[in-house]
Amino acid sequence: MKILFVCLGNICRSPAAEGVFIHLIAQRGLTEQFLVDSAGTGGWHVGHAADHRMQAAASRRGIHLPSRARQIELNDLESFDHILTMDEDNLRKVKGMAKEFGRRSTATIRPMLSYAKSSDNLEVPDPYYGGAHGFEHVLDLLEDACKGLLDDLIAPSIKS
Ligand code: 4NP
Repeated sequence: MKILFVCLGNICRSPAAEGVFIHLIAQRGLTEQFLVDSAGTGGWHVGHAADHRMQAAASRRGIHLPSRARQIELNDLESFDHILTMDEDNLRKVKGMAKEFGRRSTATIRPMLSYAKSSDNLEVPDPYYGGAHGFEHVLDLLEDACKGLLDDLIAPSIKS
């Protein structure tokens, strides 16, 4: 199963989601069953590693972030099974690309936090311009949502 996490710059939120999900499937012995990647709707940081503040916060939880930033392409909408977006803007942009790609777009596109149990908010706040607490908060949200996502992929529940 192929999973793509998407945010704006692909250096904070979606690389964190990618790393958290990779960590989770490794813990559960499911690594071989997944291909996991992340991308940004913007291209400013292409080729960059995850933001060092996000890497440090993840590392304190034993989570490695292997991402190198890239920009999402139309082709991703047919090569991935599931695309998880971090905020409303990402969701709108990816859905716009899906419309442009027409019937070739086969991935499901959903807000990442639709899988979180502890949050009613559907947006992962962008931590880029804030303090250290923002990175911890993003990881808390993503750890929760990644568990919900994996549980749902293993035993799908009916969602609106
Ligand atoms: P991300 O955060 O979308 O979570 O990777 C951002 C990183 C960089 C910028 C914006 C958001 N930027 O404008 O450079």
